[in-house]
Amino acid sequence: MSIHYVLIFFLLFLTPFCKSDDQLTHTKPLTHSDTLISKSGNFALGFFSPTTSNNSFYLGIWYHGIPGPRTVVWIANRDSPIITPSSGMLIVTNNSHMVLSNSKGQNIWTSTGNITAGAAIAHTVLLDSGNFVLRLPNGMDIWQSFDHPTDTILPSMKFLMSYKSQVVGRLVSWKGHDDPSSGDFSCSSDPSSPNLQFFTWNKTRPYCRIGVESGLSVSGGTYVTNTSSILYQTTIYSGDEFYYMFTISGDPAFTRIKLEYTGKLKFLSWNNHSSSWAIISERPSAACDLYASCGQFSYCDFTQIIPACQCLSGFEPVDGINFSKGCRRKQALKCGKQSHFVALPGMYVPDKFLHIRNKSFDECIAECSHNCSCTAYAYANLSSVGALADPSRCLVWSEELIDVKKVLVGENLFLRLNDSHVEKKRRTLKIVLPIVAFLLLLSCIALVWMHKNRGKWRKKQNQKKLELEYFTTTNELEGENAEFPFVSFEDIFSATNCFADSNLLGLGGFGKVYKVIGSGTYSRTSFG
Ligand SMILES: *[C@@H]1O[C@H](CO)[C@@H](O)[C@H](O)[C@H]1NC(C)=O
Ligand SMILES: *[C@@H]1O[C@H](CO)[C@@H](O)[C@H](O)[C@H]1NC(C)=O
Ligand SMILES: *[C@@H]1O[C@H](CO)[C@@H](O)[C@H](O)[C@H]1NC(C)=O
Ligand SMILES: *[C@@H]1O[C@H](CO)[C@@H](O)[C@H](O)[C@H]1NC(C)=O
Ligand SMILES: *[C@@H]1O[C@H](CO)[C@@H](O)[C@H](O)[C@H]1NC(C)=O
Ligand SMILES: *[C@@H]1O[C@H](CO)[C@@H](O)[C@H](O)[C@H]1NC(C)=O
Ligand SMILES: *[C@@H]1O[C@H](CO)[C@@H](O)[C@H](O)[C@H]1NC(C)=O
Ligand SMILES: *[C@@H]1O[C@H](CO)[C@@H](O)[C@H](O)[C@H]1NC(C)=O
Ligand SMILES: *[C@@H]1O[C@H](CO)[C@@H](O)[C@H](O)[C@H]1NC(C)=O
Ligand SMILES: *[C@@H]1O[C@H](CO)[C@@H](O)[C@H](O)[C@H]1NC(C)=O
Ligand SMILES: *[C@@H]1O[C@H](CO)[C@@H](O)[C@H](O)[C@H]1NC(C)=O
Repeated sequence: MSIHYVLIFFLLFLTPFCKSDDQLTHTKPLTHSDTLISKSGNFALGFFSPTTSNNSFYLGIWYHGIPGPRTVVWIANRDSPIITPSSGMLIVTNNSHMVLSNSKGQNIWTSTGNITAGAAIAHTVLLDSGNFVLRLPNGMDIWQSFDHPTDTILPSMKFLMSYKSQVVGRLVSWKGHDDPSSGDFSCSSDPSSPNLQFFTWNKTRPYCRIGVESGLSVSGGTYVTNTSSILYQTTIYSGDEFYYMFTISGDPAFTRIKLEYTGKLKFLSWNNHSSSWAIISERPSAACDLYASCGQFSYCDFTQIIPACQCLSGFEPVDGINFSKGCRRKQALKCGKQSHFVALPGMYVPDKFLHIRNKSFDECIAECSHNCSCTAYAYANLSSVGALADPSRCLVWSEELIDVKKVLVGENLFLRLNDSHVEKKRRTLKIVLPIVAFLLLLSCIALVWMHKNRGKWRKKQNQKKLELEYFTTTNELEGENAEFPFVSFEDIFSATNCFADSNLLGLGGFGKVYKVIGSGTYSRTSFG
């Protein structure tokens, strides 16, 4: 055997080892067979093909060291695959860009960073968070994959929903199970209210409304796998930026948010014992969670075991029996005639609102009651969770109300109704009052009678008391089991430390109450 063969043998073996590193430099490109592995082995970056049926290769990041199919979290060139196998190459240029090229030497992807001319040459690092950064020798990151998400949000990633009230961040689903090219579903802030609402879209149509900013509280929840973890999620307002972020404390299990090619937005956590991804929550989570699927003036009732459409109070089904076709007023509203507002608690307010700025609660009420085409209003003061120039959130609706939901923890929706409804109630009162008076009289007589038979009465009373106590206790216990305590901002602050200097604007889109029992069976979820 000649020395050359030995040398080649050594090179073949050594090359991958030399490069199975977490860094890439100007002089060390990433070629087809190389992978970068983050320091503690959580993530890998390299070239992959999602299918064996053709030779399309992509530069991506995936979880390293978990069994089963590769779980990809980021892709550089999803819409321009490398067709010729073993030809892809990622280089860091001498002006601190990253360039991905194919066999013809064409650049098919370039990092778009702001580069300081004449600065020292950057290198890349694949961090343990799954973030791939382009870093200057002084430690400053001039580009990061976290700023360019594909279809996945990872813990501690700032998902910039809007900047100066313009939609920025967008998750775009894969086209199919093994086709990473841009699919039909996406997920982003609502262009017409970028700081208030978050949607998933089917092309340009709303698919599911994920969240409405209401400033109720910072959402956080515990979910229990084998060791318990606490999941915190917040929407954060800081300067011109409005972003979403989630973090995990406790057991640092792999957790991610993924927009699947089917349009479902899922919160997933790796279960070490079943060696699979457990669903913590998903949206849409019921048939009537799909956008506007209950029709107008109807709401999807999430307080039921099986969520279903219901008419808002004062409304009846258009169809008579089918609540999915929308509802209509029992009593018509007429301009200039008397009307009143009913408070519907625990609501997730309708879409298609008008956001009137700089209003107090009273001004918001006036805004709606003085305008006879206004059908509802909802008010929130977002100042409790952040220092905003205008913390008021006065929403008013004209005409129909769509995509309303009733949830475990929601806000008040004030709905305008015809006054004859109230008159009806008054009429009922007129009938009921004499009956009540009569019953009272009867009880007086009964009391006098019982006073005479005191001993017997007391015995019975005590027995009743015991029964009552038993029932209230069990109810309370059930309540405690079903609901997780809400986590205050202070708790989150001390627990995570990473929200320092940030002003919190309020509620995350996904929800508040999570519970994953044992092997990851989903037991309860809600959103607000
Ligand atoms: C950077 O590389 C280009 C060619 O790739 C070369 O022409 C140029 O001189 C290099 N610049 C520096 C500063 O090394
Ligand atoms: C890159 O842009 C950001 C703002 O977008 C700025 O804060 C930062 O200083 C810039 N970095 C460089 C290296 O120019
Ligand atoms: C390979 O398959 C993927 C997914 O099905 C598809 O997007 C891509 O266009 C195919 N590439 C070629 C070269 O056929
Ligand atoms: C997405 O919209 C298209 C029409 O543009 C429709 O055919 C398709 O069924 C929708 N997908 C889902 C999952 O609803
Ligand atoms: C998961 O299991 C592997 C071995 O099966 C172990 O090395 C690893 O620490 C576990 N991870 C967690 C988060 O429990
Ligand atoms: C109610 O209407 C919806 C939409 O039109 C339809 O899909 C559903 O089958 C109907 N349900 C019943 C019970 O008629
Ligand atoms: C309430 O509705 C009824 C029936 O539609 C109508 O006759 C009446 O004028 C309405 N009352 C007011 C105050 O608008
Ligand atoms: C709200 O009020 C503040 C100060 O009172 C003012 O600077 C701002 O322009 C107002 N915004 C709107 C939208 O009216
Ligand atoms: C919001 O609440 C804060 C205190 O909680 C109060 O100072 C502020 O005036 C309120 N703003 C509005 C618009 O109601
Ligand atoms: C209030 O009235 C104006 C016209 O005076 C109308 O343009 C607006 O849409 C109305 N809407 C609401 C919700 O108050
Ligand atoms: C928790 O982990 C232990 C081993 O550490 C395992 O035997 C047990 O089945 C796990 N429990 C659940 C609910 O997954």
